[in-house]
Amino acid sequence: MEIIHSHKVLTLIRRGLNLIDRRLADHGVKVMLVMQEMLAADGCQDEELKKILGLLALLHDVGAYRTEEIDNLVKFEMGNVWEHSVYGYLFLREFTPLGQWAEVVLYHHADYNTMEEQPEQIRRYAQMMHTADRAVIWHDEVKRTEEDLDRHFSKGSGIVFSPESIDLWRHCQKSGIFSRLDDPHCLDAALNCSRLSSQEATAYLSMVIRTIDFRSRVTVAHTVGVMEIGLHLARKMGFSEEICQQIYYGAMLHDLGKIGIPVSVLEKPGRLTPEETAIMRQHVTLSGQIIEGCVDQTTARIALRHHEKLNGSGYPQGLSAEDLSLPERLLAVADIVSALCMSRSYKEAWPKERCLAVLWDMCREGELDSRIVSVMETFFDEIMAPANEASEPLRDVYERIYTEYRSVLKSHI
Ligand SMILES: [Fe+2]
Ligand SMILES: [Fe+2]
Ligand SMILES: [Fe+2]
Repeated sequence: MEIIHSHKVLTLIRRGLNLIDRRLADHGVKVMLVMQEMLAADGCQDEELKKILGLLALLHDVGAYRTEEIDNLVKFEMGNVWEHSVYGYLFLREFTPLGQWAEVVLYHHADYNTMEEQPEQIRRYAQMMHTADRAVIWHDEVKRTEEDLDRHFSKGSGIVFSPESIDLWRHCQKSGIFSRLDDPHCLDAALNCSRLSSQEATAYLSMVIRTIDFRSRVTVAHTVGVMEIGLHLARKMGFSEEICQQIYYGAMLHDLGKIGIPVSVLEKPGRLTPEETAIMRQHVTLSGQIIEGCVDQTTARIALRHHEKLNGSGYPQGLSAEDLSLPERLLAVADIVSALCMSRSYKEAWPKERCLAVLWDMCREGELDSRIVSVMETFFDEIMAPANEASEPLRDVYERIYTEYRSVLKSHI
């Protein structure tokens, strides 16, 4: 049984990216479409290269989660936008099969005349993406004439933009690319060009989830913790392997909607105000909007009910015991254990007793299922071992990415 439909993963990612900022809605897909047409105009026959560059175009702004930078991105002349370029590049390089091609994203806003030292291929495709990106912003945000855009490109030719990529753009423009950017069928077709294997699909999806978890040191291992705790607790409960896998993938998707929650709320130290709490709670509804129709229904429900409580005090639906299946109740337990025990490196994690005391308190309040908590208690160490094991390399990657982030950024500003 296919739990997450591979052919729908790009749709799922597209919806997720669209939640980062309303002004960037479908920006990635549009740049993908232009990029594909520029490559066709260039006579590119290499299917693998077309796929790589299409995916890079779709994901090029995955690092843009800071509102201040987005304010700059949607202007035609942008000022400093290195942060999202560096951040996106590091994630793509680290977690996807794109490897060094990710440098195209690193330089997607770099001026042509600053790129002499880069390898020819990177320079060439980064410039195509730069041109495609600015043309899409012109179309969506600046909203002046195509002739004005052409004058801008002429003025920047050889300095900001490579003459070659301007030529390719002009070719697309002549064949009516501006009108295709407004056509939902053309955008869907651009997205559906790339077929992902199920392994690739999981890699790209995990990468997007990590950009959310990696926003703060405290949440680096959260999703992977829920996945591993959920899986191993489910096995100890004696669930069939099929249900165990649904729990595992439900856990993978459960907080995906946080991509649409402002970082100021997500990372706020201390208590949230009632307004901020309401915003934070929207992450479940947003997860629902992202995954709708892209994963099997049982898995979707497991993902979307992780904050529901047996006594009806949970959210977003305020469901109660009779509505909640055992796997759904289990994920709620796994989420809490991960939040309590995986929020720091495992040497500083909450001791088992303290974590179990919280779970039993919640059972007494009528919030959690005591049968599940009891299995958690019996096999606590066995369940936590694989979760800690999976989280340690991620913490190392986190430290490495942030060290590199600072040094790459410093070398470009
Ligand atoms: Fe960008
Ligand atoms: Fe959540
Ligand atoms: Fe969570």
